[in-house]
Amino acid sequence: MMEWTDRHCRFFHRLLTRRALIYTEMITTGAVLHGDRARLLAYDAAEHPVALQLGGSDPRALAQCARIAADLGYDEINLNVGCPSDRVQEGRFGACLMAEPALVGDCVAAMKASVRVPVTVKCRIGIDDQDPEAALDALAHAVNAAGVDALIVHARKAWLAGLSPRENRDIPPLDYDRVYRLKAAHPALAVVLNGGIVDLDQAAAHLARLDGVMMGRAAYQEPWRLLTVDPALFGAGAPFASPKVAAEALMPYLERELLRGTRLHAVTRHILGLFRGVPGARAFRRHLATEAVKPGAGIAAFRAALALVVDTDGQMAHTAAA
Ligand SMILES: Cc1cc2nc3c(=O)[nH]c(=O)nc-3n(C[C@H](O)[C@H](O)[C@H](O)COP(=O)(O)O)c2cc1C
Repeated sequence: MMEWTDRHCRFFHRLLTRRALIYTEMITTGAVLHGDRARLLAYDAAEHPVALQLGGSDPRALAQCARIAADLGYDEINLNVGCPSDRVQEGRFGACLMAEPALVGDCVAAMKASVRVPVTVKCRIGIDDQDPEAALDALAHAVNAAGVDALIVHARKAWLAGLSPRENRDIPPLDYDRVYRLKAAHPALAVVLNGGIVDLDQAAAHLARLDGVMMGRAAYQEPWRLLTVDPALFGAGAPFASPKVAAEALMPYLERELLRGTRLHAVTRHILGLFRGVPGARAFRRHLATEAVKPGAGIAAFRAALALVVDTDGQMAHTAAA
C-alpha cells in the first residue's frame, strides 16, 4: 500500500504470519527501469513468499520489470489494474485499464512469457459508468486467455471522475456477490477477494467460495490479527505466543537496521497497532510517538515502549511451539 507499507513493514508482518503471501506497494515500470532500482526492489530473504506489484501498461516494459523482479527472487509478479490516482490515470495504467481489457491481456501475456513465477492481476469490478457484469467479465476473459495465475478483485468500482483515491476505497459500494458470480462463471480461474475484510471469520467465509482473500487496511492498522492467520486459515501454529513476544523477535532486525542508518521510527511506525486490548497498548503507542521520532533514537526507546505493555504470553492457543 503506497505511502504505508515498505520492506520494514513486510519484515514485521512476516514475523506474524509465515504462510500469508505479502505484496509490495505498487512500483511503476518507469521507477524500476529508470529509478533507484536497488532501493525500490530491496527486500529481506525472510519476507518470502513476497509478490511485487507493478504499475504500467506497456507490455514490453512490464515484461522487462517482471524479469528483473523474478531474477531478484520475487515469488509472484502482480499487475495493478485498480489504482485510481490522477498520476496513474495520466500514465494510462492502474484502474483506467479496466476500460482496456485487451491491453491488460497483452501485458499479462508478455509478463508470462518472460518469467516462470506466477503472474497475477489486481483489479476493480469496474470504473465510472461501466457495467460491472460486462467489465469484470471482459477483463477476466482477457487475462484468463493470457494465462494469468490469479485475479484479485477489489470488490468495488473506482469512480475516476470526482472521487479522491481515499474516497475510492470507501465510497463505491462493495459487491461481493459480483466476485462470487465471477468465480462461478470461471471455475478454473483462481479468484481472490479484496475489500472491507476486517477479520478472519469474514476471511474464512469468503474462502469457502473463493480461492483466496487479501486484507489491506485491517492487516496494516491492526497487525495483531496476522498472528492468528496461520492457525485460523492454514492449520499451522502461530509463529509466536503473543504480540509482545513477536515484537521482541523484531529486536535483532531493528539493531541491524539502526546500524545501517535506518531511523527507528521508519520501522516502529508500522508496529503502533500491534497491541489491542492489551494493558499498556496506549502507553506503548505514546512512547513510540514521542521517543522513536527523535533524531538518533535507538533500540532503548523501543525496549522502553515494549516494557510498558503487559505480556499476554500463553493466552494465544496453537503456537508453533505447542
Ligand atoms: C494508503 C493505501 C495505499 C494503497 N496502495 C495500494 C497499492 O499500491 N496497490 C494496490 O493494489 N492497492 C493499494 N491500496 C488498496 C488496497 O490494496 C486495497 O485494495 C483497499 O484498501 C481495499 O482493501 P481493504 O478494505 O482490505 O483495505 C492502498 C490502500 C491504502 C489505504
